[in-house]
Amino acid sequence: MAKYRIRQSLALSGEVAISGSKNAVLPIMAAALLTDERCEITDVPALRDVDVMRGLMCGIGARVNGRCGGVLEIATEGIASEEAPNELVKKMRASVLVMGPLLARAGRARVALPGGCAIGTRPIDLHLKGLKALGARIDSENGYVIAAADRLRGANIYLDSPSVGATENITMAAVLAEGTTVIENAAEEPEIVDMVNFLNKMGARIKGAGTNTIKIEGVKRLGGARHAVIPDRIETGTFMLAAAITRGRVLIRNAVPDHVKPVTAKLKECGVDVRVSDDGLIVDARHGALMSTDIRTLPYPGFPTDIQSQFMAFLTTVRGSGIVTENVFENRYMHVNELNRMGANIKIEGRVAIVEGDCRLRGAEVFATDLRAGAALALAGLYASGTTQISEIHHIERGYSAFVEKLTGLGADIARVEE
Ligand code: EPZ
Repeated sequence: MAKYRIRQSLALSGEVAISGSKNAVLPIMAAALLTDERCEITDVPALRDVDVMRGLMCGIGARVNGRCGGVLEIATEGIASEEAPNELVKKMRASVLVMGPLLARAGRARVALPGGCAIGTRPIDLHLKGLKALGARIDSENGYVIAAADRLRGANIYLDSPSVGATENITMAAVLAEGTTVIENAAEEPEIVDMVNFLNKMGARIKGAGTNTIKIEGVKRLGGARHAVIPDRIETGTFMLAAAITRGRVLIRNAVPDHVKPVTAKLKECGVDVRVSDDGLIVDARHGALMSTDIRTLPYPGFPTDIQSQFMAFLTTVRGSGIVTENVFENRYMHVNELNRMGANIKIEGRVAIVEGDCRLRGAEVFATDLRAGAALALAGLYASGTTQISEIHHIERGYSAFVEKLTGLGADIARVEE
């Protein structure tokens, strides 16, 4: 079994280039199912999740050529299967994003109900509410959801909460519907804007992406398009925190400063210098005693839940106590036990975690419970004295391409070792 072996690595320095966004490329690949013409997607990150989505799309009938970590060519001349099988949905819950495109393109979708995961139950009730409003009949059998519709018709849909996946699925189903759809209380994440930019290049007529109200005018068909995936803002935030926790100075190339404003603001509150340069973001934590702060996760443009665990690891190393409140997922503190085993002192009270600072973290054998928790443990291992071994690293490799290489390029002592 592969593990990461990490030794104390203070003051990272140098530069790192951010890869394409995992959470943008997955809905964009699904959106390519909406046309029988060839689409070309560039800046595709080399991730396990992209491989899983590629396999799912090939099972549906798409031809997907090219290399993950480069350019993908997708052409779906016909739909061979409208199914997202359980073994793929179990591997990657974002597989549910093919439901909207399949419904729009083939009039039917049979998708395994995604189970919960380490961070929460993660239902898809809002996805189904929206598809139903567009005219789909929704049934369930043997753990699968079946959505069917002869013709989708535009509708006004209010989302009880600004779900990213539901906003994406409903938008993709609505682009070929008859008439106009308005999604109220839509999610505003940059990954949704990127997916909508791709759809509009294909001939869709969508306005309001990036705001809480998205208007989609249905069109008869969509054509092929070429699109470059935006840089990954969560990877950006993770490397910002790698610089901060090691008290180093790192230039993060290819970052989009606007997409990480909450992380920048919070690092500045702690005394870390974050500057925008022509080459990207410079994070400099070499000077002065860093102080704690509080963070509350919220849907975009609030503080991203996907950076909560990494920021918490950083807060264990600065002066004073900080309060972390996780408002998006109900169980996103699985990293706390592992951090406490490294010498942190974090107490959980419901949705709130009280993070004591000035901890002398010590290396330990820990395990990754989910993607971002794993990244947080890696950051903690860079700061901790001694050696940290992280198991279950497949979680990390789902969402970070060349994670070890990028960190060693900054001077980190990290290696992937086979037990
Ligand atoms: C997307 O997941 C991201 N994944 C997640 O990133 C991210 O944490 C999340 O958005 C929030 O920003 C991808 O884009 C592939 P949601 P998604 O629907 O779409 C509840 C990572 O680490 N909800 O916005 O599943 C849900 O339970 C991953 O890269 C419903 O109740 O997130 C959760 O509490 C982790 N009913 C909250 O909304 C629904 O129908 C946010 O979920 C849908 C969601």
